[in-house]
Amino acid sequence: MELPGFTTGFSTYVKIEGLNPAGSIKMKTAREMILDAEAKGRITPGCELIESTSGNLGVALAAICAARGHRITLVTDPNVNARTLRFIKALGADVVIVDERDRAGGYLATRIDYIRRRTAADPRLVWLNQYANPANAAAHCTHTVGEILAGFGTPDWLFVGTGTAGTLMGCVRGLREAGAATRIVAVDAVGSVTFGARPGRRWIPGIGTSRVPETYVDDGSFHKLLVDERDAVRTCRRVAREHGLLLGGSSGSTLAAVDAFSDRIAPGSRVLAISPDMGEGYLDTVYDDDWVTEHFGADTLAAAERREAAYLPG
Ligand SMILES: Cc1ncc(COP(=O)(O)O)c(C=O)c1O
Repeated sequence: MELPGFTTGFSTYVKIEGLNPAGSIKMKTAREMILDAEAKGRITPGCELIESTSGNLGVALAAICAARGHRITLVTDPNVNARTLRFIKALGADVVIVDERDRAGGYLATRIDYIRRRTAADPRLVWLNQYANPANAAAHCTHTVGEILAGFGTPDWLFVGTGTAGTLMGCVRGLREAGAATRIVAVDAVGSVTFGARPGRRWIPGIGTSRVPETYVDDGSFHKLLVDERDAVRTCRRVAREHGLLLGGSSGSTLAAVDAFSDRIAPGSRVLAISPDMGEGYLDTVYDDDWVTEHFGADTLAAAERREAAYLPG
């Protein structure tokens, strides 16, 4: 979908992955990882799956596991959306929330330590490990890139958020294999360590990690940009008010990155930003005035409102 007037001089489009079953881009990752584990004989009768998730993968895995008769435990942290948590539970998965911050200020290391302890104690547990599982990037190499090339054509620029880096690495590989000259921008949050920056507190789930994922390989072929979560919030709220599109927090980061790169993008370019999920799950956070004020300060809210006001018609 095009966002007319989001940028001047070139066209910005969003690939809306929130329309996938289970509501996010993670359906592709979940499906590929389960099919791969089944094909390789890792999932046997009586076994139980376990996985670390910031939310969306959990919903997707819970849905697939319900349909295929697998038991699964999902390990998450307090940044998970309340609605996502209810969604997962409704699908019948078990949920564990770890609440101790790791040394980098996030929760990922705590989540993974928990899984390592559980798998060491119980040989029936199968850890899918989205951070290192090659099926994660393979899903995007085949399906996300396949859909882009078939439905949109070759973008001049592609902006991709980075969490496990599965989407990013899959897109890098798929577009290169297709011979596309697309310039790719990997987008992460300030406070995430994947691009080598210092760790810090983050509030928006999906992108950013406190531990570099094994899947991530910087081969020098893509640009990297860290986006302040305040800009992600402002951009989400701007897109909602100006385009009638309620997107998730990481989509705001990715679109804020398009804005930040705009002076490097040639006039007439077609720029595509991947939007991993929709914004309903963020109504109590990114789209809630009190939450924004409490977490990012009244300035962020005021700046978002100024921008929204500046774009009101008439
Ligand atoms: C909302 C959201 N944005 C971005 C991402 C990042 O995708 P990836 O893990 O493929 O890097 C995720 C992954 O969980 C997500 O849920």
